Amino acid sequence: MCGIVGYIGQQSAATLLLEGLKTLEYRGYDSAGIALAPGDGAFRVTRASGKLVNLQGRLDPRDPATLGIGHTRWATHGRPTEENAHPHRSGDGKVVAVHNGIFENFLELRKELQDKGESFLSETDTEAFPVMVSHLLKGGVTFTEAFRQALGRMEGIYAIACLHADDPNRILAARSGPPLVIGLGEGENFLASDVVPLLRHTRRVIFLEDGDLAELTRNGVRIFDLQGKELHRPIQNIPYDPVAAEKGGFKHFMQKEIFEQPQAISNTLLNRLPIEASEPIPLELPFTDEDLKSLQRIHIVACGTSWHAGLVGKFLIEQLARTAVEVDYASEYRYREPVIPEGTLIIGITQSGETADTLAAMKEAASRGARTLAICNVLGSTATRTAEATILTHAGPEIGVASTKAFTTQLAVLTLLALRIGEAKGTVDPKLRAELLQGLRELPAHLEHISALEPRIIQWAQRWRDASDFLYLGRGPLYPIALEGALKLKEISYIHAEGYPAGEMKHGPIALIDKDLPVVALMPKDSHREKTLSNLQEAAARDGRILGLVTQGDRGLDGIAEDVLELPEVHPWLAPILYVLPLQLLSYHIAVLRGCDVDQPRNLAKSVTVE
Ligand code: F6R
Repeated sequence: MCGIVGYIGQQSAATLLLEGLKTLEYRGYDSAGIALAPGDGAFRVTRASGKLVNLQGRLDPRDPATLGIGHTRWATHGRPTEENAHPHRSGDGKVVAVHNGIFENFLELRKELQDKGESFLSETDTEAFPVMVSHLLKGGVTFTEAFRQALGRMEGIYAIACLHADDPNRILAARSGPPLVIGLGEGENFLASDVVPLLRHTRRVIFLEDGDLAELTRNGVRIFDLQGKELHRPIQNIPYDPVAAEKGGFKHFMQKEIFEQPQAISNTLLNRLPIEASEPIPLELPFTDEDLKSLQRIHIVACGTSWHAGLVGKFLIEQLARTAVEVDYASEYRYREPVIPEGTLIIGITQSGETADTLAAMKEAASRGARTLAICNVLGSTATRTAEATILTHAGPEIGVASTKAFTTQLAVLTLLALRIGEAKGTVDPKLRAELLQGLRELPAHLEHISALEPRIIQWAQRWRDASDFLYLGRGPLYPIALEGALKLKEISYIHAEGYPAGEMKHGPIALIDKDLPVVALMPKDSHREKTLSNLQEAAARDGRILGLVTQGDRGLDGIAEDVLELPEVHPWLAPILYVLPLQLLSYHIAVLRGCDVDQPRNLAKSVTVE
């Protein structure tokens, strides 16, 4: 959740670290700090609560130090105050550390160290680490040895970077859980929680594995295991265009990412649609037709928006491959001792590839014999490195905390996957397959068309910006989109919203309906249309204010809805990819009108690496 950066080289560390933290701010933004090691036996530590700009105002950009570490925090233990902001120092001021994760045994360690005369200044779990390293150094061991021994005492998960004021020629870092990536330069090296801050400086990176300890100096990087044995990790070249991670004229990353969806979907589909009708879907899966044929059951695990993608995936896979699919919140699945019969494939859907619950759920299923597949947007993330197979979504970096293009590209991949499994099992009707493939090809143009409806959606936002609640209704594959519309609104505008299957409304939520409740209705022309229409008539009869999304030319909501947006006609099973876009825009514009911080909504973080 938190963001870590480190730099050792010839340039001003203050400037580089601050720039790096800016690109990682999406990981946490309730306080931040930087420690610089000028090499005179002390550190210059600057910290501030609140957003990064508060820290920026306190830093001297001309500081000559060429070694330092920085951190942007999402509070777990201790309030988001300056005292609790990282870097944390040992009592003698000789050791500083930044940490992402949780040290579960910190109270015990704190007591042990206090009994030995060490002092603490913060409420955090992290502080136990530099204090422990400093204590071990007093026993005469080297910095690396003290760091290694301190790691051995920590229980929990961590990505950590640490400096010693009397050894100002190295950064020590380690990982067990949250990600940590090293960027390789010439006469300089970098460290960060993900590749984005590194891309301005280098494309050559090393992803640390769990249990790795890294030593970064100006001239090189060495990696060891926790027993001190040297390891060789591959250097990877990252193809991302750094410009993709900038706002490019849009007011917010979220808006830019909503508008990038036509391109993102094109990139996701590139080289994955068969040219000849007789060819199988060219998905880069290591599974043979026999493997796919023998699949008896699929379990999908995910969190939040990715879980909504999983619900659409269930619909598609069950329809196209006639294989039973269960979809679980990863945080529930991992603890419910799931029954995993032979022939089960577990699919983890995770944009970041770092969500702790999703990774743990996949691990749990793998340990019980399931085969594993990750659907992920981040090459080199933990999910892609631990799953047996990965399908990348190719949405490009998603910086806005609320997921948009990562979601629609997940849906595109799930459609291809459902078709691919269906092909292997012989359950897909060739005509339907051709229709869906053609529909996928047309998606980017349809998404462009829908993006142009933004002015109408702004009107909806203006009218309803002060509503206290929203209800979203849909059926079949549009039900998960109702859930997603409600989640988007909640997380960025802080308006309470619920998504419901339209048919379920009369079993409870109908009690909420009155003239002040906007009801966003998803009603494409599909087999559910008539039923949804009846449900909406029930809502209108109780003065509900209906905002409808329908297929071009459908007049069914005339006289019932307050306003209706007509969306291009697509195969109903592809409608989720189109219908979510207006809902993303609606949340975005309501949040902007309410003055909310769209890209960094309160209490949230992009990558949830804690349970
Ligand atoms: C919502 C959102 C979150 C994530 C969830 C899972 O906009 O972004 O609900 O979808 O935290 O994250 P990933 O997909 O990275 O596992």
